[in-house]
Amino acid sequence: MEELVISENIQSEKEKYKLLIKQLSGLLNSEDPLISNLSNLTAALKQTFDKISWVGFYIFEDRKLYLGPFQGKVACTSIEPGKGICGTAAANKESIIVADVNKFPGHIVCDTDSKSEIVVPIINKDGSLYGVLDLDSTEYSAFD
Ligand code: SME
Repeated sequence: MEELVISENIQSEKEKYKLLIKQLSGLLNSEDPLISNLSNLTAALKQTFDKISWVGFYIFEDRKLYLGPFQGKVACTSIEPGKGICGTAAANKESIIVADVNKFPGHIVCDTDSKSEIVVPIINKDGSLYGVLDLDSTEYSAFD
């Protein structure tokens, strides 16, 4: 049985990351289908950090980012590169941290309660874009 054990008594984010990373090596398996690993990774992140309201992958396919495994409310199915926070991170192949999403021009609103966000691009070994990992919070400045 797969289980993630991160005690609620642990307050330090650093400690939580340490415990999470340790357990991910058991949870994720390179022999399993990628979609299974991506799915469990989103669940593990959401379970570990209360501040995360939405976490998910957008996968780059046919010149667009398409919604992949995620945890949270339903979200936009596709995003054009260069649009919103996800599309900008994808186009520039650079992580973006947004302390207040309302101040990001062109931010795509999926959940009106979302206040801050981090988007991390995922790059294939050949340098091409695989997709992005998007994390949202209902708190301002939740990510660093
Ligand atoms: N806010 C994102 C869109 C995706 S949702 O947050 C799930 C953006 O502007 O890229």
